[in-house]
Amino acid sequence: MATEHRDFWSKVAAKYDRVVDLQFGGPSTRSMVRERVAKEGRLGYLAEFGCGTGFYTPVLASKADNVVATDLSPMMLGLAKDQVQASNVTFRVEDCEKTSFPDEAFDTAFLGLVIHFTEPNKTLAEMRRILKRGGTLIIANVGLGALTGLDRVRAVIRMLYCGITGFRVKPPKGFAKHMMTEKQLCDLLGQFGFRVISTERIKSTSSSSNIPVEYVRAVKV
Ligand SMILES: C[S@@+](CC[C@H](N)C(=O)[O-])C[C@H]1O[C@@H](n2cnc3c(N)ncnc32)[C@H](O)[C@@H]1O
Repeated sequence: MATEHRDFWSKVAAKYDRVVDLQFGGPSTRSMVRERVAKEGRLGYLAEFGCGTGFYTPVLASKADNVVATDLSPMMLGLAKDQVQASNVTFRVEDCEKTSFPDEAFDTAFLGLVIHFTEPNKTLAEMRRILKRGGTLIIANVGLGALTGLDRVRAVIRMLYCGITGFRVKPPKGFAKHMMTEKQLCDLLGQFGFRVISTERIKSTSSSSNIPVEYVRAVKV
């Protein structure tokens, strides 16, 4: 499964930033999430998973002592390497469900718009393993579940339409099948030994059908 996902993301990498912002509706949603990251305190030794083209990496680097920016797709990582200049960032291919990092290696782990593409149980177990006790897990979760009625229908159609016409690559079977509501994510975090310390809904207000991002911070207890 990981191979099919890796190949999909590598094929769409060059188009990703343009298409994802269309899918969310409000082109500023990811920028708003990035602004939220910029308000974090010091993040210590940080691992970023699914860094994509490195959209969040520079701001994470400005808050962290050291960043290991990782992604399943070598093509995505290549774009991130070209775009990120910060000297405290290294890049490597990693599957966040099963990484090569030692136990308790990091103070912070960041996953931006990634967890629903993975088996959340495996990813959270891995995050628990690699974080120090008291370490922070930050998840930017796609908040499709927060939309209701016609807004939700519009958002789903826009996501599919922009994905199909923008990427023009068939997604692997079971793609994005683990989309979670904020409550489902918080409950799961509890099951994996994390205490949720804050949740914030970030949404561009240009249209009611814009897809929000839930910015969830949790601590390993
Ligand atoms: C929707 S993009 C998000 C990229 C970036 N974080 C952002 O918000 O712009 C999802 C990224 O996760 C990566 N990815 C998917 N499954 C992964 C996995 N199991 N482990 C690590 N990265 C994964 C993809 O290659 C892709 O770059």
